[in-house]
Amino acid sequence: MLLRVLADGVPIDCGGVADGFTGCYGKLPAIGIAAVATIAAAAVVGHAVLAALVPQLFNAMTGVPTGGGEGLLGGGSPTVKVGGLRVPVLPSIGPSVPFAGRVLLVGEGNFSFTAANLGLGRAIPQNVTATAYSPDGRFPPDVLSRADQLRAMGANVRLQVDARNLPADLAGGAPFNTVIFQFPHPGGPRTGASVAGRQLMRDFFASAAQRLAPGGKVVLTLRNQHYVSHWRPAEAAAAAGLRLESVTEFHQGHYPGYGHVTTSAGATSPDVSQGFTFVFTRG
Ligand SMILES: C[S@@+](CC[C@H](N)C(=O)[O-])C[C@H]1O[C@@H](n2cnc3c(N)ncnc32)[C@H](O)[C@@H]1O
Repeated sequence: MLLRVLADGVPIDCGGVADGFTGCYGKLPAIGIAAVATIAAAAVVGHAVLAALVPQLFNAMTGVPTGGGEGLLGGGSPTVKVGGLRVPVLPSIGPSVPFAGRVLLVGEGNFSFTAANLGLGRAIPQNVTATAYSPDGRFPPDVLSRADQLRAMGANVRLQVDARNLPADLAGGAPFNTVIFQFPHPGGPRTGASVAGRQLMRDFFASAAQRLAPGGKVVLTLRNQHYVSHWRPAEAAAAAGLRLESVTEFHQGHYPGYGHVTTSAGATSPDVSQGFTFVFTRG
Protein backbone atom coordinates (compact mmCIF):
# COMPACT_ATOMS: atom_id res chain seq x y z
CA MET A 1 0.00 0.00 0.00
CA LEU A 2 1.25 3.51 -0.87
CA LEU A 3 1.56 5.98 2.00
CA ARG A 4 0.24 9.44 1.33
CA VAL A 5 2.70 11.94 2.70
CA LEU A 6 1.94 15.38 4.22
CA ALA A 7 3.90 18.43 3.19
CA ASP A 8 6.28 18.20 6.17
CA GLY A 9 7.09 14.53 5.39
CA VAL A 10 4.96 12.81 8.08
CA PRO A 11 2.81 9.96 6.61
CA ILE A 12 -0.90 10.83 7.10
CA ASP A 13 -1.84 7.45 8.59
CA CYS A 14 0.68 7.85 11.38
CA GLY A 15 -0.77 8.51 14.87
CA GLY A 16 -2.31 5.14 15.70
CA VAL A 17 -0.88 3.38 18.75
CA ALA A 18 0.65 0.68 16.59
CA ASP A 19 2.59 3.11 14.39
CA GLY A 20 6.35 2.82 14.59
CA PHE A 21 7.87 6.09 15.77
CA THR A 22 10.85 5.71 13.49
CA GLY A 23 8.73 4.88 10.42
CA CYS A 24 6.29 7.72 11.03
CA TYR A 25 8.37 10.48 12.58
CA GLY A 26 12.00 9.75 11.86
CA LYS A 27 14.87 8.59 14.12
CA LEU A 28 15.52 11.78 16.14
CA PRO A 29 11.99 12.29 17.61
CA ALA A 30 11.84 8.55 18.34
CA ILE A 31 15.02 8.75 20.44
CA GLY A 32 13.63 11.82 22.27
CA ILE A 33 10.32 10.14 23.03
CA ALA A 34 12.11 7.00 24.28
CA ALA A 35 14.37 9.13 26.52
CA VAL A 36 11.40 11.00 28.03
CA ALA A 37 9.58 7.72 28.65
CA THR A 38 12.65 6.25 30.36
CA ILE A 39 13.09 9.31 32.63
CA ALA A 40 9.40 9.30 33.54
CA ALA A 41 9.51 5.58 34.43
CA ALA A 42 12.65 6.12 36.53
CA ALA A 43 10.94 9.00 38.36
CA VAL A 44 7.90 6.85 39.18
CA VAL A 45 10.06 3.96 40.46
CA GLY A 46 12.33 6.36 42.41
CA HIS A 47 9.35 8.01 44.08
CA ALA A 48 7.93 4.66 45.14
CA VAL A 49 11.29 3.54 46.58
CA LEU A 50 11.72 6.83 48.50
CA ALA A 51 8.16 6.69 49.84
CA ALA A 52 8.87 3.20 51.20
CA LEU A 53 12.28 3.98 52.67
CA VAL A 54 12.10 7.54 54.00
CA PRO A 55 10.08 6.77 57.18
CA GLN A 56 12.54 3.98 58.09
CA LEU A 57 15.52 6.25 57.33
CA PHE A 58 13.97 9.01 59.43
CA ASN A 59 13.26 6.58 62.29
CA ALA A 60 16.82 5.23 62.13
CA MET A 61 18.27 8.76 62.18
CA THR A 62 16.11 9.86 65.12
CA GLY A 63 16.43 6.60 67.06
CA VAL A 64 12.76 5.66 66.91
CA PRO A 65 12.34 1.89 67.29
CA THR A 66 10.30 0.31 64.50
CA GLY A 67 9.89 -3.11 66.06
CA GLY A 68 10.54 -4.54 62.64
CA GLY A 69 6.89 -4.09 61.84
CA GLU A 70 4.69 -2.48 59.28
CA GLY A 71 3.12 0.90 59.85
CA LEU A 72 -0.23 0.37 61.53
CA LEU A 73 -1.29 3.99 61.39
CA GLY A 74 0.09 4.57 57.91
CA GLY A 75 3.25 6.45 57.06
CA GLY A 76 5.47 3.83 58.71
CA SER A 77 4.37 4.49 62.33
CA PRO A 78 6.33 2.12 64.57
CA THR A 79 4.50 -0.88 65.91
CA VAL A 80 5.33 -3.90 68.02
CA LYS A 81 3.67 -7.29 67.80
CA VAL A 82 2.21 -8.18 71.20
CA GLY A 83 0.24 -11.37 71.76
CA GLY A 84 -0.41 -11.77 68.03
CA LEU A 85 -1.58 -8.17 67.55
CA ARG A 86 0.30 -5.20 66.10
CA VAL A 87 0.23 -2.39 68.65
CA PRO A 88 1.29 1.20 67.93
CA VAL A 89 4.36 2.41 69.81
CA LEU A 90 3.72 5.91 71.18
CA PRO A 91 6.52 8.44 70.72
CA SER A 92 8.31 9.87 73.73
CA ILE A 93 10.02 13.23 73.85
CA GLY A 94 11.06 12.92 77.50
CA PRO A 95 11.08 10.42 80.37
CA SER A 96 8.04 8.23 79.71
CA VAL A 97 8.44 5.39 82.21
CA PRO A 98 5.59 6.08 84.70
CA PHE A 99 6.94 7.11 88.09
CA ALA A 100 3.87 8.07 90.11
CA GLY A 101 2.78 7.54 93.69
CA ARG A 102 4.54 4.85 95.70
CA VAL A 103 7.11 3.48 93.26
CA LEU A 104 8.80 0.07 93.46
CA LEU A 105 11.76 -0.72 91.20
CA VAL A 106 12.88 -4.35 90.95
CA GLY A 107 16.03 -5.84 89.40
CA GLU A 108 17.71 -2.45 89.53
CA GLY A 109 21.22 -3.65 88.74
CA ASN A 110 23.36 -0.68 89.78
CA PHE A 111 20.49 1.61 90.94
CA SER A 112 21.40 4.22 88.31
CA PHE A 113 17.87 4.22 86.86
CA THR A 114 16.45 5.03 90.30
CA ALA A 115 19.09 7.74 90.76
CA ALA A 116 18.36 9.23 87.31
CA ASN A 117 14.63 9.53 88.03
CA LEU A 118 15.20 11.09 91.44
CA GLY A 119 17.74 13.43 89.83
CA LEU A 120 15.02 14.50 87.40
CA GLY A 121 12.69 15.20 90.34
CA ARG A 122 10.12 12.67 89.18
CA ALA A 123 9.30 11.53 92.73
CA ILE A 124 10.23 12.36 96.25
CA PRO A 125 12.76 9.77 97.53
CA GLN A 126 10.53 8.81 100.47
CA ASN A 127 8.02 7.40 97.94
CA VAL A 128 10.60 5.18 96.22
CA THR A 129 11.59 1.61 97.06
CA ALA A 130 14.54 0.49 94.92
CA THR A 131 15.60 -3.16 94.96
CA ALA A 132 18.27 -5.30 93.35
CA TYR A 133 18.85 -9.01 93.05
CA SER A 134 21.96 -11.02 92.39
CA PRO A 135 22.04 -14.74 91.58
CA ASP A 136 24.91 -15.28 94.06
CA GLY A 137 23.77 -12.68 96.61
CA ARG A 138 26.86 -10.50 96.08
CA PHE A 139 26.90 -6.88 94.90
CA PRO A 140 29.89 -4.87 93.64
CA PRO A 141 31.18 -1.89 95.69
CA ASP A 142 29.81 0.74 93.27
CA VAL A 143 26.31 -0.73 93.65
CA LEU A 144 26.57 -0.74 97.43
CA SER A 145 27.80 2.84 97.48
CA ARG A 146 24.97 4.06 95.19
CA ALA A 147 22.51 2.21 97.43
CA ASP A 148 23.91 4.17 100.38
CA GLN A 149 23.60 7.48 98.49
CA LEU A 150 19.94 6.76 97.71
CA ARG A 151 19.27 5.81 101.33
CA ALA A 152 20.87 9.08 102.42
CA MET A 153 18.40 10.90 100.16
CA GLY A 154 15.51 9.15 101.90
CA ALA A 155 14.73 6.27 99.51
CA ASN A 156 14.07 2.76 100.76
CA VAL A 157 16.79 0.57 99.20
CA ARG A 158 16.72 -3.21 99.59
CA LEU A 159 19.15 -5.84 98.35
CA GLN A 160 18.33 -9.39 97.31
CA VAL A 161 14.64 -8.82 96.62
CA ASP A 162 13.34 -11.48 94.22
CA ALA A 163 10.89 -10.05 91.66
CA ARG A 164 9.19 -13.46 91.61
CA ASN A 165 8.52 -13.35 95.31
CA LEU A 166 7.54 -9.77 96.21
CA PRO A 167 4.79 -10.57 98.74
CA ALA A 168 7.36 -12.43 100.88
CA ASP A 169 10.47 -10.35 100.16
CA LEU A 170 8.62 -7.04 100.67
CA ALA A 171 6.12 -8.17 103.25
CA GLY A 172 4.08 -5.49 104.99
CA GLY A 173 3.76 -1.85 104.06
CA ALA A 174 1.34 -0.16 101.70
CA PRO A 175 0.84 -1.49 98.17
CA PHE A 176 2.61 0.22 95.25
CA ASN A 177 1.12 2.49 92.60
CA THR A 178 3.92 1.78 90.12
CA VAL A 179 6.07 -1.36 89.88
CA ILE A 180 8.94 -1.06 87.39
CA PHE A 181 11.26 -3.71 85.91
CA GLN A 182 13.77 -2.24 83.44
CA PHE A 183 15.35 -4.64 80.97
CA PRO A 184 14.79 -7.83 83.00
CA HIS A 185 16.99 -10.78 82.16
CA PRO A 186 17.23 -14.13 83.94
CA GLY A 187 20.95 -14.49 83.11
CA GLY A 188 22.45 -17.90 82.41
CA PRO A 189 23.21 -19.48 79.05
CA ARG A 190 21.78 -17.91 75.91
CA THR A 191 20.29 -21.24 74.79
CA GLY A 192 17.78 -21.37 77.66
CA ALA A 193 17.08 -17.64 77.82
CA SER A 194 13.72 -17.82 75.99
CA VAL A 195 12.24 -20.38 78.35
CA ALA A 196 13.79 -18.77 81.45
CA GLY A 197 12.71 -15.28 80.33
CA ARG A 198 9.14 -16.42 79.75
CA GLN A 199 9.06 -18.03 83.21
CA LEU A 200 10.51 -14.86 84.77
CA MET A 201 7.73 -12.82 83.13
CA ARG A 202 5.01 -15.12 84.47
CA ASP A 203 6.44 -15.17 87.99
CA PHE A 204 7.15 -11.42 88.05
CA PHE A 205 3.65 -10.37 86.94
CA ALA A 206 1.96 -12.84 89.32
CA SER A 207 4.10 -11.50 92.16
CA ALA A 208 3.79 -7.78 91.26
CA ALA A 209 0.00 -8.01 90.91
CA GLN A 210 -0.21 -9.02 94.58
CA ARG A 211 1.60 -5.84 95.71
CA LEU A 212 -0.26 -3.45 93.38
CA ALA A 213 -2.56 -0.71 94.67
CA PRO A 214 -5.99 -0.32 93.00
CA GLY A 215 -5.45 1.49 89.69
CA GLY A 216 -1.70 0.83 89.91
CA LYS A 217 0.58 0.11 86.95
CA VAL A 218 3.19 -2.55 86.26
CA VAL A 219 5.85 -1.21 83.91
CA LEU A 220 8.27 -3.29 81.88
CA THR A 221 10.91 -2.18 79.40
CA LEU A 222 12.30 -4.65 76.85
CA ARG A 223 14.96 -4.06 74.23
CA ASN A 224 13.26 -5.21 71.04
CA GLN A 225 10.70 -7.38 69.27
CA HIS A 226 12.77 -10.52 69.88
CA TYR A 227 12.20 -10.36 73.65
CA VAL A 228 8.54 -9.43 73.26
CA SER A 229 7.95 -12.43 70.98
CA HIS A 230 9.89 -14.93 73.05
CA TRP A 231 9.08 -13.79 76.60
CA ARG A 232 5.39 -12.99 75.95
CA PRO A 233 4.89 -10.31 78.61
CA ALA A 234 1.27 -9.55 77.64
CA GLU A 235 0.28 -13.19 78.12
CA ALA A 236 2.10 -13.30 81.48
CA ALA A 237 0.40 -10.08 82.56
CA ALA A 238 -3.02 -11.34 81.45
CA ALA A 239 -2.53 -14.50 83.52
CA ALA A 240 -2.03 -12.19 86.52
CA GLY A 241 -5.19 -10.21 85.74
CA LEU A 242 -3.38 -7.26 84.11
CA ARG A 243 -4.06 -5.78 80.68
CA LEU A 244 -1.83 -3.81 78.35
CA GLU A 245 -2.53 -0.09 78.58
CA SER A 246 0.18 1.35 76.33
CA VAL A 247 3.53 0.82 74.64
CA THR A 248 5.89 3.78 74.47
CA GLU A 249 9.35 4.31 73.03
CA PHE A 250 12.10 4.10 75.61
CA HIS A 251 15.17 6.28 75.16
CA GLN A 252 18.05 5.83 77.57
CA GLY A 253 19.17 9.40 76.80
CA HIS A 254 16.07 10.72 78.61
CA TYR A 255 17.53 9.48 81.92
CA PRO A 256 20.87 11.23 82.54
CA GLY A 257 23.33 8.99 84.37
CA TYR A 258 21.41 5.77 83.68
CA GLY A 259 23.93 3.05 82.87
CA HIS A 260 22.92 -0.51 82.17
CA VAL A 261 24.39 -3.61 83.84
CA THR A 262 24.04 -7.24 82.82
CA THR A 263 22.64 -10.00 85.05
CA SER A 264 25.71 -12.23 84.72
CA ALA A 265 28.92 -10.41 85.64
CA GLY A 266 31.20 -10.15 82.62
CA ALA A 267 28.46 -10.72 80.01
CA THR A 268 28.57 -8.48 76.93
CA SER A 269 26.56 -5.36 77.66
CA PRO A 270 23.74 -4.99 75.14
CA ASP A 271 22.58 -1.77 73.50
CA VAL A 272 19.80 -0.39 75.68
CA SER A 273 19.80 3.07 74.17
CA GLN A 274 16.23 2.41 73.10
CA GLY A 275 13.45 -0.07 73.63
CA PHE A 276 9.75 -0.49 74.33
CA THR A 277 8.11 0.43 77.64
CA PHE A 278 4.95 -1.58 78.32
CA VAL A 279 2.43 -0.34 80.87
CA PHE A 280 -0.05 -2.83 82.32
CA THR A 281 -2.95 -2.13 84.62
CA ARG A 282 -5.58 -4.24 86.28
CA GLY A 283 -8.11 -5.20 83.62
C1 LIG B 1 19.93 -6.95 82.10
S1 LIG B 1 19.96 -6.60 83.81
C2 LIG B 1 19.22 -5.01 83.90
C3 LIG B 1 19.53 -4.32 85.17
C4 LIG B 1 18.88 -2.96 85.36
N1 LIG B 1 17.44 -3.09 85.50
C5 LIG B 1 19.21 -2.05 84.21
O1 LIG B 1 18.31 -1.61 83.50
O2 LIG B 1 20.39 -1.79 83.99
C6 LIG B 1 18.70 -7.66 84.38
C7 LIG B 1 18.47 -7.55 85.86
O3 LIG B 1 17.44 -8.45 86.22
C8 LIG B 1 17.73 -8.88 87.51
N2 LIG B 1 16.98 -10.10 87.82
C9 LIG B 1 17.03 -11.30 87.22
N3 LIG B 1 16.22 -12.15 87.86
C10 LIG B 1 15.64 -11.46 88.88
C11 LIG B 1 14.71 -11.77 89.86
N4 LIG B 1 14.20 -13.01 89.98
N5 LIG B 1 14.34 -10.82 90.74
C12 LIG B 1 14.84 -9.56 90.65
N6 LIG B 1 15.73 -9.20 89.72
C13 LIG B 1 16.12 -10.14 88.84
C14 LIG B 1 19.20 -9.14 87.50
O4 LIG B 1 19.74 -9.17 88.79
C15 LIG B 1 19.67 -7.95 86.71
O5 LIG B 1 20.05 -6.87 87.53
